[in-house]
Amino acid sequence: MKCARHWLDCPSSLTHGNMIQRVIFTREDPKNPHNEGAIMRVIDSFARAYLEPGVSSVPHVNEGIQETFFVIDGSGTLVADGHERSIRDGDGIYVPPGVEHTFVNNGDTPLEFLIVVELIPDGAEVESKTANIKNYRESNLGMGHWKHIVHDVFSGSPYELIHDKKNRMVQRHAILVVLMDPMQTSDSHGHITDKDEIWYMLKGEGVHVVGDEMVIHKPGMAIQVAPCDPGHSLINHTEEPLMAFYIAAAVYRVEDDGSYTRVLETLPEVCDS
Ligand SMILES: [Fe+2]
Repeated sequence: MKCARHWLDCPSSLTHGNMIQRVIFTREDPKNPHNEGAIMRVIDSFARAYLEPGVSSVPHVNEGIQETFFVIDGSGTLVADGHERSIRDGDGIYVPPGVEHTFVNNGDTPLEFLIVVELIPDGAEVESKTANIKNYRESNLGMGHWKHIVHDVFSGSPYELIHDKKNRMVQRHAILVVLMDPMQTSDSHGHITDKDEIWYMLKGEGVHVVGDEMVIHKPGMAIQVAPCDPGHSLINHTEEPLMAFYIAAAVYRVEDDGSYTRVLETLPEVCDS
């Protein structure tokens, strides 16, 4: 399945100086259509990364880019614009453009992250001037697709691009932690060409049906399920609960009056095998 990649199958590189990352998916590259993993429409990069114990990242500032981190495992400290804050597993960390940030692994185990990198859309203003941290455990439970139990991390509606007043980020996605009990099947639904939707399995495993293919979705594997029509469905066929990280992002255009229009793109299908 072209849309499925395990992080250990991806080449490693450095980010933020001392973070070792494996970039799983990147934005599609029409000039290089065979670039493996280049299948996203909206999100520029989706990676897994870690800092070894006792290691700090190099202070880093992005311009025109927002970064969202999700702490998979370990604990440490985020230094953002000179302010120190503890971070732990389950934390979502939003870093807007222009904010210097450093991660410190002062624990005894690797500090592991998922990293989502997005270019700020032309004309969009970034209201937040500071980093924002929110643990998924702090949010109320919700339901999705009948059998998904979801914790919001940073989300408004996945169908709106707004300056999310709650999280003060350029909001063009839902970021969730999804739990699914044993022997449960979510409903099947389709996705068209104007969004990215990535599922990264954190714990447990399931059968992920995407279009007319299916794969055993194991921990460490990411699957981009959009565009796929007919749709996709995640099935927990095991006797253990599963836990997944989810991000959905849609394509928007910023109008002259500052409003946003969701753009239906007619790009070629990239999700065929
Ligand atoms: Fe979906």
